[in-house]
Amino acid sequence: MRLNKKTAIITGSSQGIGRGIAERYGSEGANVVVNYIGNMDMANEVCDIVAKNGGRAVAVQGDISKVADIDNLFAAAIEAFGSVDILVNNAGVERHAPFWEVTEKDYEFVMNVNVKGTFFAAQAMAKHLIETKRRGKIINISSVHEDLPFPNFTAYCVSKGGVRMLARNLAVELGQFGINVNNIAPGAIETPINRNLLNNPMKLDYLLGQIPLKRLGQTDDVAGVAVFLASDEADYVTGSTFFVDGGLTWYYEEQ
Ligand code: BGC
Repeated sequence: MRLNKKTAIITGSSQGIGRGIAERYGSEGANVVVNYIGNMDMANEVCDIVAKNGGRAVAVQGDISKVADIDNLFAAAIEAFGSVDILVNNAGVERHAPFWEVTEKDYEFVMNVNVKGTFFAAQAMAKHLIETKRRGKIINISSVHEDLPFPNFTAYCVSKGGVRMLARNLAVELGQFGINVNNIAPGAIETPINRNLLNNPMKLDYLLGQIPLKRLGQTDDVAGVAVFLASDEADYVTGSTFFVDGGLTWYYEEQ
């Protein structure tokens, strides 16, 4: 077991990629803090699976875009398991609209969850590790769109570009404390964030045509990399982004 007795907070882990990571961390022996915003039943279900897989888990409600909720999340994690070794900043949202129609409300929603939430959760983690003089790992689930333009999702791309620079900056600033910071950049993974796409056969076919490996990713594809980055095997890895996208980012073909 590669994460035996290590404690991991995973934001937004009642569903999607976060859930996949929580379940895998459980099978690697981790204590998992399953953060969720609205669906307690789903979060409890994830906790049960983590326990069945061999780990321990607690569910903690909290809106990651609020610093008070982040503080509460860390306090609950420390109360349950004593300390935190791994933070997976997974919670993320997107909104579809042509650039000229993006509202202030939608812009703020996307930036507050994806950038502010990731920023202050990383800060809480850094403070905790510095105070307790322990090493640790921060993993941000960004997106291929930390690099790749995505028309009609400009705020999302801006936010993920921000997460790219956050990881690079923190890797440099926090290295002295033995804190590793890396991003995982998923491509098209079959999760609720893609509901519209999954229900639209034409859009889906078009997208599959642009994925060299010819399939959507599964949450487990991302979870494998998240286990590696959280484990001791990644002790010398920091400041990098790992693309898990079936080759989508570099797809180019001329007919
Ligand atoms: C987005 C998805 C999109 C995928 C590939 C992800 O970051 O959340 O909506 O399908 O990137 O473009």
